[in-house]
Amino acid sequence: LTDLDDKKFSGKRVFVRVDFNVSVSNGTVGEDYRIRMTIPTIEYLTKRGAKVILASHLGRPDGRDIDYTLAPVAKRLSEIVGSRSSMKVRFAHDCVGQAVENEISQMNNGDILLLENLRFYKEEETNDSEFCKKLASLADIYINDAFSTSHRKHASTYGMATLVDARLAGFNLRKEVEYLSMMKDNPIRPFKVVVGGVKIKDKIGALEHLLLKSDKVIIGGAAAYTFLKAKGFKTGKSLIDNEHLPWVSKALASYGDKIMLPTDHVAAMSPADTSITMVKGDIPDGMAGFDIGNETIERYSTEVSGTNGAGMIFWNGPMGMFEVRAFANGTVNIAKSMALAYWRGAKTLIGGGDTLEAMKKSGVAENEVSHVSTGGGATLRYLAGDEMPGVSVLNGQ
Ligand code: 3PG
Repeated sequence: LTDLDDKKFSGKRVFVRVDFNVSVSNGTVGEDYRIRMTIPTIEYLTKRGAKVILASHLGRPDGRDIDYTLAPVAKRLSEIVGSRSSMKVRFAHDCVGQAVENEISQMNNGDILLLENLRFYKEEETNDSEFCKKLASLADIYINDAFSTSHRKHASTYGMATLVDARLAGFNLRKEVEYLSMMKDNPIRPFKVVVGGVKIKDKIGALEHLLLKSDKVIIGGAAAYTFLKAKGFKTGKSLIDNEHLPWVSKALASYGDKIMLPTDHVAAMSPADTSITMVKGDIPDGMAGFDIGNETIERYSTEVSGTNGAGMIFWNGPMGMFEVRAFANGTVNIAKSMALAYWRGAKTLIGGGDTLEAMKKSGVAENEVSHVSTGGGATLRYLAGDEMPGVSVLNGQ
């Protein structure tokens, strides 16, 4: 991947694909981590006199749907940029066409323009060649700083890049690739993985690689009940991924000595049930597990941050239904153990938006972790060894 330092930007129209796919409710941006992570690239370019054109998708709209406008993101970006300099962000109400071309032709060196949601055009996702040409005509230089959407072969992540002479990696994308490739191919040992959340399906590819490469895989969240069922435990009404039970059984047969599973649970009849019970081993009929129990918390925390802890740890997915207070203890303790491991010198990585949210709700700050990946699906795909069109298109530049 070519360094930004290798190019002259003054007076150039620099098209930066960012991933501003953030949560927006009632016109206000929630967690803005993805926006903040693009600031180093944006500031680098504005200081060097580039005309910075930012483009992103937001959600999965079906054509132009104003509920998915990027206007609230432009506002938040303006606030972030404005708190650091006198710069302002302008917002274009489209992402291609004459009005956008006019806006760009009026830009001064160092100006920032955010285009409207790329997915207002279905051609973005189909990587349509005419749409790619329209986007490419807006750019002298193309930069991808959207690692978290680089698993998509879309017009703005792939097609247009092939039509622009200079295509480069932004600082955030580069940092993501550096951290994740170290973890994937050359982890610091002992390398431990903590996996939670609900769905096993989306994680199978990454888990296959991580089971092979890691020293321990610590399982929590609803995913754990499918593993426990495969081992012959009673799991009551707990969420089970029956479709992937065969895969789980195979994983247990091949890597059983590496896989850690909960030995006790916080169980209840339903998430709303206030009479919760701590159970060991089997979960009684009519009840479901919603969090890991105290004995499991103790074992997992020692594994993550004890004196024989980890050289490197990757955490993806909460340990229980952490949105409900009664079921948040496992996640809170894992988050705190991750922070302790970090202060003890381990390289710690967190992947997925829900894991960042869980970490923050647990009172652990972003600067108590070595790297928080902006990617959800992209991070898992990358770890599974899948092709990342948005990254490979930058190679050889
Ligand atoms: C994400 O949030 O994971 C990325 O922005 C990609 O979004 P998508 O799954 O809608 O393509």
